[in-house]
Amino acid sequence: MGEVDPAFIQDTQHRPKLAVIEAEGIPLVGTCSTDGTRRATLSSLSLGLGFESWGGHSVTPLTGTEPNILKTNDVPTPLIDLSSANASNHVSQIADASKNWGFFQVINHGVPSESRRKIEDAARKFFALPLEEKRKVSRDEVNPLGYFDSELTKNVRDWKEVFDFVVSTPTVIPVSPDPDDKELKELTNQWPQYPPELREVCEEYAREMEKLAFKLLGLISLSLGLPENRFNLFFEESTNFIRLNHYPPCPIPHLALGVGRHKDGGALTILAQDDVGGLEVKRKTDGEWIRVKPTPDAYIINVGDIIQVWSNDTYESVEHRVMVNSERERFSIPVFFNPGQHVWVKPLEELTKGEKQNYRAYNWGKFFARRKRNNFKKLDVENIQISHFKASE
Ligand code: OGA
Ligand code: NI
Repeated sequence: MGEVDPAFIQDTQHRPKLAVIEAEGIPLVGTCSTDGTRRATLSSLSLGLGFESWGGHSVTPLTGTEPNILKTNDVPTPLIDLSSANASNHVSQIADASKNWGFFQVINHGVPSESRRKIEDAARKFFALPLEEKRKVSRDEVNPLGYFDSELTKNVRDWKEVFDFVVSTPTVIPVSPDPDDKELKELTNQWPQYPPELREVCEEYAREMEKLAFKLLGLISLSLGLPENRFNLFFEESTNFIRLNHYPPCPIPHLALGVGRHKDGGALTILAQDDVGGLEVKRKTDGEWIRVKPTPDAYIINVGDIIQVWSNDTYESVEHRVMVNSERERFSIPVFFNPGQHVWVKPLEELTKGEKQNYRAYNWGKFFARRKRNNFKKLDVENIQISHFKASE
């Protein structure tokens, strides 16, 4: 292994915690297990060089050259069965999960597993191509779609490569984040020659995701006491996009992240993760990073920043990040549901009658254009966040 680019190294406080507890059968996260065994919390297992111990159990820090064995924990995270037999519970389950976690997983969601398998296979084939082939469909400052391997999250490089494509035709966004620049541009997908089926399987998957997204948006709307179709209008001329993610094995999994901590800026994300695992969500009750254990065929649903604003903070978007490991590559496919570029995002009137609106309205297209620019280029300023639109006290 040669030198690792320092651009990948996270600041100390944001580094993931990797540890192996040598004694078998001791779960890593939690406070007290039902059988009375004391559990360690991940945060107490700080990673350093040398030997550390916690609570009498020896903990071996990983150096990055050793296999990255992180025992996944048993913290229950919300899992919602969307089959019709359970329909009467869906709304309240979604309300609880969105409020307490800002995320949940769904099973029996109606998306054919065949459609997912096909896009996952095609993604594997694409990322296995030589770099020069992938770079033939590279994203650049003009076209934000296609292949990219140098994305930054909060100005630190992510250990990943991606392929982005949009779902609606046309997808239109502002040319620049400058509020005075009214010019718009149409985004065009760049499809590689190989694998030849990539375009078709992506388009089929996109149609399935759209159906699931509208089902979920309907349930979220009902869970806020609104009509089921309350959000639909915002998604006319949507700026939805889908990302194929590949996280190669990483020689420094204790120093780098596949994706640094962030919240998704759109309305809703539907994520397919493979069986490797690595996604962590920040638990709202105590700020602990919790590993989302892969559930076969399930989708992970993240409440995004826009739902936080629409709901006037009733639901808060979930902070999350991706750990990498030194042994196994990982693939994931997030689908980002975003409104049209013309939409002004603000707390919904029906939810704020007689109450303070926590945010000033902002234009989604300009917000999106600025995000895209920052993920591309290292800037000295913080990326744009919804907190910048917080109404003053
Ligand atoms: C993202 C993201 C999670 C994952 O791309 O925004 O959070 O598991 N991805 O790849
Ligand atoms: Ni994300």
